[in-house]
Amino acid sequence: MKTAGWRCEVTSKYRRLARQLQGQIENGVWQPGDKLPSLRETVKQSGFSLMTVLNAYQLLESQGWILAQPQSGYRVAPCQHSPANLARPALHAAEAVDVNAFIFNVLQSGQQPDCVAFGSAFPDASLFPQEQLARSLGRVARHLTPDQQLVLPPGCAELRRAIARRYAARGMEVTPEEIVITSGALEALNLSLQTLTRPGDWVVVEAPAFYGALQAIERLQLKALAVPADVTAGLDLDALADALGRYPVKACWLMSHCQNPLGVSLGVQSRSRLLALLREHQVPLIEDDVYMELYDGERAPLPLRAQDPGVLHCSSFSKTLATGLRIGWVSAGKRAPDIQRLQLMSTLSTSAPMQLALADYLASHHYDRHLRTLRRVLQQRKQRFYEALCQLLPAQVRVDPGTGGYFLWLSLPESMDATRLYHLALAEGITIAPGRMFAAGEQFRHCFRLNVSLPWNSRTEAAVGRLSVLIRALISGC
Ligand SMILES: Cc1ncc(COP(=O)(O)O)c(C=O)c1O
Repeated sequence: MKTAGWRCEVTSKYRRLARQLQGQIENGVWQPGDKLPSLRETVKQSGFSLMTVLNAYQLLESQGWILAQPQSGYRVAPCQHSPANLARPALHAAEAVDVNAFIFNVLQSGQQPDCVAFGSAFPDASLFPQEQLARSLGRVARHLTPDQQLVLPPGCAELRRAIARRYAARGMEVTPEEIVITSGALEALNLSLQTLTRPGDWVVVEAPAFYGALQAIERLQLKALAVPADVTAGLDLDALADALGRYPVKACWLMSHCQNPLGVSLGVQSRSRLLALLREHQVPLIEDDVYMELYDGERAPLPLRAQDPGVLHCSSFSKTLATGLRIGWVSAGKRAPDIQRLQLMSTLSTSAPMQLALADYLASHHYDRHLRTLRRVLQQRKQRFYEALCQLLPAQVRVDPGTGGYFLWLSLPESMDATRLYHLALAEGITIAPGRMFAAGEQFRHCFRLNVSLPWNSRTEAAVGRLSVLIRALISGC
């Protein structure tokens, strides 16, 4: 008790100091580029300890108010980076989430044959190694013994070992016993959330968030605390601190890498601060990491799970290998037995032949080679679409490419409704994912997500052209 109280006092002191300094910057006491008093000077003036002052400065730095200068202390960030100029969306607390009907309709409409599926959440399936997978499926089907027909949770041991080896290759210690195989990441995420919560509990999600999180919250009768995220810095950690301080949060469902729909990844400092905040408030994290293999650049980013074994790390093969196999997993640490029990009660188990086929595929060592090609092609396609959209769309439309993955996030002028664009485009056989899918409120109504994993050809070029015409017509009609 004593320790917790002490930690709380230290926490509020550095936040108080950070708020004071932030107020001084907002009021013009300190101008962009000004050098701030050194840590020691501030210790002297404020009477706070060096640790408190350092924490306050680091907090302001992580929020973009100030910049650390090697050898010369801290300066106020230039205007364009100052959060005061970036109308900050507020924390959104939703007692009831009601998104399922809308999301269901949008997802169903994306099933139309022959539509240009810019609204899809999955990469172009022709990029998957269909033949190799078919060979693995065939091999498994031919040799399937009666006792292999059903594999109860935690799932096929060979597959769990193969996944554990992939963690090990990133320097992470995850044992096969901690891993539970699920029907896609969605089941892993849902089971994790259900294990940690009871109806009526508060859960932190991002705003905008992957709609699966909102659907799960609605289904489990939970309450959503939507913490703003933006395309440059990702999750607003100050707002998260605020949410954790004010609400009895039972779980956070977040993405640290290649967030859906923004595509943003958290920087090193933000990741550490996020984990520190969650530790401080003793809130478990469900890390949705379905895009973990689809990074830009040479080095695979480490999941937050690498820094904290308490994180429930959820991922799948749906975005990289085969959407339809529906194989995912959660690396659940000490919560693995709870997840297994819940899975047994809900779906019994994940399809055994599919698990065996995937284990067979992974054992044939083609996966990393395939991933290298997949990442390269996705990057090229995204770049091509990004350039075309920047050229074709009117200047009022903002296009954000994010890092990694295969989505672009577009923002129309705020007065506009991308749901209208969605309906107009759908009538022409083009789907998009309108912003309303990604929040319990209306704050992203003017935004939409495009899947740009498709090849750039006459069909997709024409579809982008039509979208541009529709957008121009909507803007001029506003
Ligand atoms: C962010 C995110 N999480 C989870 C999922 C679900 O993944 P799976 O198909 O493996 O269930 C998706 C799929 O669209 C996603 O985009």
